[in-house]
Amino acid sequence: MKRIIPGLIVLMMVIVWRTAPALAAGKDEVADGQKLFMQYCASCHGKDGMGDGPVAHSLTKPPANLRMLSDKYGSPLPAAKLAEIIDGRDAVRAHGTPEMPVWGERFYALGQGDRGELGISEIIGKIVAYLDTIQDRRRASR
Ligand code: HEC
Repeated sequence: MKRIIPGLIVLMMVIVWRTAPALAAGKDEVADGQKLFMQYCASCHGKDGMGDGPVAHSLTKPPANLRMLSDKYGSPLPAAKLAEIIDGRDAVRAHGTPEMPVWGERFYALGQGDRGELGISEIIGKIVAYLDTIQDRRRASR
């Protein structure tokens, strides 16, 4: 019995560890999206998406205020368009040398690649779902 319990604890830890990255199960897309945002985007765009993350000041171009996206792209956010911008591999970005990382490649490289394009679009889709919930729709324009 003494040896079974630690074994069970390890087993449970393994199960939790295995399921955590597979946010895929995704009952709550928005909650998953928020976690992903905190992990990958908040350093630049800030934890509230306002463009004031800790890394922001070291960039030549300030990270966008992601709460204002609907001013530019409409409301609800056009998911496919936003996904394309975030993915970045299609070079839809407007101008100059973008300091915004190419997430399509990053998410692929981060090992999500074993699930192929589906994994990438799923991750980005969740982030976009989250971004849609943080739009500052009170301000008509800026
Ligand atoms: C290394 C800093 C950095 C990180 C990390 C980062 N971004 Fe950005 N992002 C920027 C910068 C700088 C810009 C604006 C300049 C540009 O377009 O190149 C930008 C622009 C954007 C835009 C375009 C806004 C517009 O008005 O068109 C979106 C959308 C965006 N980021 C989403 C994200 C998401 C989602 C993540 C996380 C997966 C993320 N960013 C992570 C720096 C970053």
